[in-house]
Amino acid sequence: MKFTRAKRLRGQISIPGDKSISHRSVMFGSIASGTTQICHYLQGADCLSTISCFQKMGIAIENKGDTVLVHGKGMRGLTCPDSALDCGNSGTTMRLISGILAAQDFSVTLTGDASIQRRPMKRVMEPLTLMGAAITSVPDNGCAPLTIRGGALCGIHYTSPVASAQVKSAILLAGLYADGQTRVTEPWVSRDHSEIMLKHFGAHVSREGTTAVISPARELYANKVVVPGDISSAAYFLCAGLMVPNSQILIRDVGINPTRAGILTVIKAMGGQIQLLNQHTASGEPAADILVSSSSLHGTVIQGALIPTLIDELPVIAAMACFAQGDTVIRDAAELKVKESDRIAVMARNLSAMGADVEATNDGMIIHGGKPLHGAVIDSCLDHRIAMTFAVAGLCADGETSILGAECVNISYPGFYEDLGRLIER
Ligand code: S3P
Repeated sequence: MKFTRAKRLRGQISIPGDKSISHRSVMFGSIASGTTQICHYLQGADCLSTISCFQKMGIAIENKGDTVLVHGKGMRGLTCPDSALDCGNSGTTMRLISGILAAQDFSVTLTGDASIQRRPMKRVMEPLTLMGAAITSVPDNGCAPLTIRGGALCGIHYTSPVASAQVKSAILLAGLYADGQTRVTEPWVSRDHSEIMLKHFGAHVSREGTTAVISPARELYANKVVVPGDISSAAYFLCAGLMVPNSQILIRDVGINPTRAGILTVIKAMGGQIQLLNQHTASGEPAADILVSSSSLHGTVIQGALIPTLIDELPVIAAMACFAQGDTVIRDAAELKVKESDRIAVMARNLSAMGADVEATNDGMIIHGGKPLHGAVIDSCLDHRIAMTFAVAGLCADGETSILGAECVNISYPGFYEDLGRLIER
C-alpha cells in the first residue's frame, strides 16, 4: 500500500465492531445456556479464530456476517477437539480460552502463528496453575504452543504484576468454575469488558478498587450482545482527522468505555477538538458518535493509570505526537514490547525513517514534535496497528510512504484502506 499527502479528510464513517467485545461474546455465548445473538461482530481474522476454536469444541456457531448466532451448550458443554486449537495471531483468543480450558476435563493444545509463539504466556500459566490446572509450554520457554489439562479449580486472590485484561479475564473465567470466590488485583484497572458482559450473562462480578471479584457460577444465560464500534480502530480516524489540515470526520457508534477511552483524554490534553454526540449504552457498554476536526496540537505526558486505557492506541498516538508542538513523553508502557510486535522498537524505527525525532526508552518513547515528516518504506512487521498507523502518517508526509505487509490490517480491520480512502480529498 502506498500513501501520499492528503489535502483534507471529510465525511462519515462507521467503525467495525470492537475486537475485545466480539471475542468475549462468542466465548461467553459458547459456555452459556441458550442462543446468543451477536450484532456487529467483528469479522477480523482474530475474531474468526475465536469462532473456529469454539466450533472445534462442538459449539454450533452461525456466522452470518454482521450477525453471529452462538448456540451455547452451557458451562460443561464443550467437547475435546480432535486436534490443536489454532489461535492465529490472537493473544486474546489464546489467553482467555486458557481460562476456560483450565476447568475442562480434557486436555487441549493451543497454538498460533509465529508472532503469538513469541508472546509471553507465563502470565496466564502461573495463576491458572495456582488454581489447579496443569499447563505446559511445549517449547518450555513460557510461550505457545501450550498444552492445558483442566481440572477441579480453587478460587484464589491473584496479584498480577501487569495491568492486563487478558490475564484478568482468563482468571475470572476460571473463577466461574472454582470452588470459591476468585479475586484479581492489578496495578491499574484494565479494560472491564469481561466483567460487564459476564454480568450481562448472569454471573456475579464486582470491582473493589483495582481488584475484580467473581463468584463461581452454576450457569450462564445466553443474551443478545450489540457490539459497539472499536475505539482502537476509530483511533486511526481520530488521529488522521486531527493531523490532516481542514479535516472533519464524523465517526459513528464508537465504544467509549472509560477503561478503553484514554485516547480521548490524551486528545483533549493535546488541544485536539473532538465532540461526543448521541451518547448511549448498548449491552452495558457506553458508546457515542465522535466528531473530530483538525487541530493544532501540543505535546503531553502519557503515563500511569492512563496507559492500560489506551495501550493499543499508543502507536498512532506516537505518530500524532510528531505533528504536535513540543515533547510528548510516553512512560509505564513496557507492555508495548510484547504486543504483536515490539511496538516501542518498531515505532521508533519507522518514525525515524520518516524523519521524526523520537527516542525509544525502556518503557515508552519521547517524541520531539514539530519536525516535518517525509515518506519512507515502512515494515509493518505484520503488526496490524503498525500498518494502520503508518497509513495515517503517510497522509501528512512529503513524498510517498509504502507499507510492507499491509494486508495484516485484516487482523482487526478488514476494509481499513477502503474506508480511509473514501474520506481522502486530494
Ligand atoms: C485485550 C487486552 C489488551 C489489548 C489487546 C486486547 C483484551 O491486552 O492490548 O489488544 O481484549 O482483553 P493485555 O491484556 O495483554 O494488555
